[in-house]
Amino acid sequence: MLSQLLLAVVTGACLAQAYTVKPFKVSLSAEVPWLKTQLAKSRLPTKPIPGADNDDWGVSLSTLQTLRKEWLAFDWSAEEKRLNSYRHYTTVINNSTVHFVHEKSSHPDAIPILITHGWPGSFDEYLPVVRPLLESATATLSNGATKKVSFDVVLPSIPGFVFSGAPSSAKGWDMEQTAGYWNTLMVDVLGYKHGYAVAGSDWGGGIAWHTYDLYPTVRAAYLNFFPTRPTTPEQVIADNQTLTPFEQYGVERTANWTATGNGYFVEQGTKPNTIGLALFDNPVGQLAWISEKFLQWTDPTGDMTHRDVLTGVSLYYLTRSIHSSVFQYAYNPAGFAPNVRKANNPAPMGYGNFKWDVGNWPRYVAAQLGNLVFYRQHEKGGHFPGLDNPGDYVQDVRDFLAEHFTFSE
Ligand SMILES: *[C@@H]1O[C@H](CO)[C@@H](O)[C@H](O)[C@H]1NC(C)=O
Ligand SMILES: *[C@@H]1O[C@H](CO)[C@@H](O)[C@H](O)[C@H]1NC(C)=O
Ligand SMILES: *[C@@H]1O[C@H](CO)[C@@H](O)[C@H](O)[C@H]1NC(C)=O
Ligand SMILES: *[C@@H]1O[C@H](CO)[C@@H](O)[C@H](O)[C@H]1NC(C)=O
Repeated sequence: MLSQLLLAVVTGACLAQAYTVKPFKVSLSAEVPWLKTQLAKSRLPTKPIPGADNDDWGVSLSTLQTLRKEWLAFDWSAEEKRLNSYRHYTTVINNSTVHFVHEKSSHPDAIPILITHGWPGSFDEYLPVVRPLLESATATLSNGATKKVSFDVVLPSIPGFVFSGAPSSAKGWDMEQTAGYWNTLMVDVLGYKHGYAVAGSDWGGGIAWHTYDLYPTVRAAYLNFFPTRPTTPEQVIADNQTLTPFEQYGVERTANWTATGNGYFVEQGTKPNTIGLALFDNPVGQLAWISEKFLQWTDPTGDMTHRDVLTGVSLYYLTRSIHSSVFQYAYNPAGFAPNVRKANNPAPMGYGNFKWDVGNWPRYVAAQLGNLVFYRQHEKGGHFPGLDNPGDYVQDVRDFLAEHFTFSE
């Protein structure tokens, strides 16, 4: 009996997968000449459709001409150097390559935080918050007291995006599966066995919420987006709720986006091959399709720059991952369904609500999605808080987690 038990233990140990972590460098310069050739020979109309050279009809011709010109002159090697000033790694989980940035604080009690990007973004969305979060800095707690806090930061690439391999399953790939990868990455690959925090926006908010929902090793979640339909004005009425002016603005902005801004969502959810293949070797096409989202889902007076847009599009084009990235929508047809439920995790949740986001949830709805103990509104910033308002993003993470994060035994 005892020997059988021992054998089981030994077999179990042998089955436990060993993960290899390899240092990784961004090295895409060999792809750049082709990009510039394709871009240089692309033609655009010489004049706009009358009355349509404005953002109401998608990216305007004049904006696209400007961006195209800037992209032709773009110094990719400088960008690559900036990206490589962070430590990147890859590992293999269930035969899929997973890419991530991992920076460790020099402070021993640092809180591990996993931050997930969305579409059409990448890990680059969150590079501006990495170095500030590594430092020991002052957080302000809800009672006004202060505390020092620092973080170890992990920024993974979603499967199918830039340097992470596309999922191999023909059945598709949902947010829960990515959540499984993230928990394996944090606990088994990186050894954060006493728990970690998750954060995310767009699909990354959905993936972060599912990681929080499924894994008790997630000890706190700071979200800017939820895997449920952003709140509609009709829902607010049905719920007999009165919103603050800030919340009212958000619900209206979402309703406008639903009416005029989510055609891409339907296309990517239903015909991902068509759009993915059409854009695959079409840099000016990717520039139009992607820049519209970067520029229109953000705060016009926020910190987002054309350089952020061009780096974002370059990462998709140069890694040839636009096609696999749009399948995220097709694989998650119920990703933003109207149903609302509380996460199966009593750990604290925070919501950073940035005014210019296109998906917005009033506080009362956020409270139905998890143990909401932190809610903060920001006049500045929108759908890409790591790029359009990294300062407030960092302070939210510090203030929320300094007060509410606890390691497990
Ligand atoms: C990984 O690949 C091997 C070899 O092709 C295969 O036997 C195994 O089932 C795969 N594992 C998973 C989890 O897909
Ligand atoms: C790896 O694949 C196995 C077999 O399909 C599955 O049971 C397991 O949940 C997967 N692990 C992760 C982290 O997805
Ligand atoms: C809203 O108020 C109406 C009328 O008082 C009531 O019938 C309905 O149940 C309320 N809805 C909710 C969600 O409380
Ligand atoms: C929504 O669209 C209407 C009509 O274009 C506009 O008047 C209103 O300002 C928009 N609201 C928000 C919050 O963007």
